[in-house]
Amino acid sequence: MTLNLSLARNYEPEDVWLPFSESILEWDRDFYQLMLNDEIRMIAYKNAIQQVVKPGMVVLDLGTGTGILGLWALQAGAKYLYAIDLNSEILSIAIQTFEQGNFTGRYEVFNGISYDINLPTRVDLIISEIMGNIGDNEDFIPILTDARHRFLKKEGRMLPSRVYSKLVPVSSLKAHQQVQSKNAKRINANYSIENILQRFAIKSPFSIYYDVIIPHTSYLSTPQVAKEFKLDGNDQPVYEIALTFTVEVDGIFTGFKGSFVANLSDSVTLDISGCDIASRTTSDSWKHCYLPVEIPVEVKLGDEIYLLYSRSYPKYRDSLFRQCYKWSGTIKRQGHVINVFHQSMEGGE
Ligand SMILES: C[S@@+](CC[C@H](N)C(=O)[O-])C[C@H]1O[C@@H](n2cnc3c(N)ncnc32)[C@H](O)[C@@H]1O
Repeated sequence: MTLNLSLARNYEPEDVWLPFSESILEWDRDFYQLMLNDEIRMIAYKNAIQQVVKPGMVVLDLGTGTGILGLWALQAGAKYLYAIDLNSEILSIAIQTFEQGNFTGRYEVFNGISYDINLPTRVDLIISEIMGNIGDNEDFIPILTDARHRFLKKEGRMLPSRVYSKLVPVSSLKAHQQVQSKNAKRINANYSIENILQRFAIKSPFSIYYDVIIPHTSYLSTPQVAKEFKLDGNDQPVYEIALTFTVEVDGIFTGFKGSFVANLSDSVTLDISGCDIASRTTSDSWKHCYLPVEIPVEVKLGDEIYLLYSRSYPKYRDSLFRQCYKWSGTIKRQGHVINVFHQSMEGGE
């Protein structure tokens, strides 16, 4: 695959992009290229794989895509690699990747969703990069729980080994305005905001999340861990969490920034919350998760934002990857409610 660098750096702070994790079954080559160019993603995974893979290991690359993580595992000494992906077109690129690396006979690919795959043997290590920009928005919990139970040896390891979803209330009028005017950028021309709203039966463009670089200067409070995923086989994909944020600076509250931190190995941590595009601390492919609220609210130092944040599956699930986040709550000043917000991806409004 040739790299198209223009795709990588062609974004600005607070530009609203359509949520890529919501179109996982339609990803085209441009999006895989964007991931291959994503420096903070690639550097962190390469370092972690080089640390964790030991000669002689049998490794599973779950969601292998172009095969890059599996290739690094083989180069680090893995004895054998299993590579699974549901996208048959991209799996043919993975085969080319392993062949060009001279690993003929050292790998086997499986086309399909991991739930339907059976592996010939259990593995020492499961490598995956199936996280969305708030951690679990590519449904990684049920996928990795199933994989851990069926594919991993008792003493085997997961890479990543732990993931944290983080949230912070923000003031981003530019992003809010773009959502209001349904002016979201996209890489794939077939993927539009109207399509998403229609597919989910959602009327308000404020009831879905977006991929947006939200600068740290937009923070109204200190980011908090909303959810910790231990990837030990016991994580729950459906939950509801209550968080309270104390406003630390006067501003206009327009929604929340979501991001994740992933422990890839004992010393490699991937944190996508960075916001300096020029210094490459931002992630080209994930950006951040922007969960907007419909009505911007003027907030002052000391106000409290109470958030009820949840993830579930909607009643009508047109695909295995259909999920539903809700973010609702109240804003209080000196104990009195000054505003409320309620956004939901449930649909059927
Ligand atoms: C974010 S991409 C990462 C691709 C590649 N590992 C990399 O790092 O460049 C995730 C890939 O996982 C695949 N995928 C996600 N969930 C899957 C599942 N349950 N079974 C099989 N493939 C899956 C997608 O089709 C996609 O190619």
